[in-house]
Amino acid sequence: MRILVTGGTGFIGSHTLVELYAAGHETIVVDNLSNSNPVALERVEALVGKKIPFYQLDIRDRESLNQMMEQNHFDACIHFAGLKAVGESVEKPWEYYENNIGGTLTLLDVMRRHGCKNIIFSSSATVYGDPAMIPITEACPKGNCTNPYGKTKSMLEEIMMDMQKADKEWNVVLLRYFNPIGAHPSGTIGENPNGIPNNLMPYITQVAVGKRPELGVFGNDYDTPDGTGVRDYIHVVDLAKGHVAALQAIERKCGCAIYNLGTGQGYTVLQLVKTFEKVNNIKIPYSIKPRRAGDIAICYSNPAKAEKELGWKAERGLEDMCRDSWNWQRNNPEGYGGVES
Ligand code: NAD
Ligand code: WQD
Repeated sequence: MRILVTGGTGFIGSHTLVELYAAGHETIVVDNLSNSNPVALERVEALVGKKIPFYQLDIRDRESLNQMMEQNHFDACIHFAGLKAVGESVEKPWEYYENNIGGTLTLLDVMRRHGCKNIIFSSSATVYGDPAMIPITEACPKGNCTNPYGKTKSMLEEIMMDMQKADKEWNVVLLRYFNPIGAHPSGTIGENPNGIPNNLMPYITQVAVGKRPELGVFGNDYDTPDGTGVRDYIHVVDLAKGHVAALQAIERKCGCAIYNLGTGQGYTVLQLVKTFEKVNNIKIPYSIKPRRAGDIAICYSNPAKAEKELGWKAERGLEDMCRDSWNWQRNNPEGYGGVES
């Protein structure tokens, strides 16, 4: 298929490009580079052995999107583009609503005007709020999102479902990711956060590489095996392959379909730290800090629906995730920033 990939130079987008080409698809990438580096695309090109057409544009820019769509035909769009920092979204709600919702509304409109009504959307387990069931199936009701970022995901799901209800030509696949970590085993692409990382794994790798003195563990008094938060970490390569699998739903004209992309396994913060230490033979100093506002105790998926309907399941374990995250960070201590582009 010919696929428009928005946000394709970002963390998950870049890994998904590799898997799309491996499966024989062609892509065109759109990104405004607000949270990514064009070097990522060069690295992907080296991995797939092809030049990938790239448009540096903002999905809120209707004129540029229109021009790009006039020059290209697509069978489907995989839509990653968006802002994703939970804490920042609390400080800058307007910017998050405008970018994520405004941008997606423009994208959807330009797509339908050009007759492309197939979309795979990056949603998040965050839409379950404090989940009403563990493990979480897709039947779990959505919960209260405590931050504007999560609300944009939940609202965009509703918007796309309503559009599909009104116009059956649309096929909408909503992928609810759990906690993506890891990196491509080549160590040439990976997560490249700006400033102090908010998420656990990039923080750990920055401690490992000597950029930060120690990890703060947010709370050890949750009702979990060791008191620290439990999450469903998924290797980004497995997640990327989940997008390739989701194209089957589009081909089958699924209407609207929702899938959890997780492993179904929950691990605590300290289990992740210990596994990282063991696999990479590096000590990660840490101290216990107060709970982080908005955090929940336990979140992990039941991913059976994706396996049953798409034949997809995560194959990489926590050790692979820890090894590959470190391999990326060790080879690229400054992320893509260390490369002259
Ligand atoms: P990322 O920031 O690495 O990638 C997002 C990309 O979108 C970036 O390259 C950024 O430059 C681009 N972008 C942002 N706004 C844009 C706009 N208006 N026009 C064009 N490009 C724009 O993030 P990621 O981790 O790869 O996440 C990809 C998607 O998956 C996001 O929508 C994110 O919300 C979602 N998601 C991520 C996680 C996670 O933990 N990483 C979990 C669940 C869902
Ligand atoms: C994981 C665990 C923390 C950092 C977030 C978003 C979610 C999704 C994925 C986009 C928790 C603990 C963390 C640290 C710590 N993103 N922690 N010290 O919060 O599960 O999910 O990213 O959709 O929407 O909310 O991920 O990696 O931030 O935290 O102890 O320095 O690690 O308390 O238990 P989270 P995370």
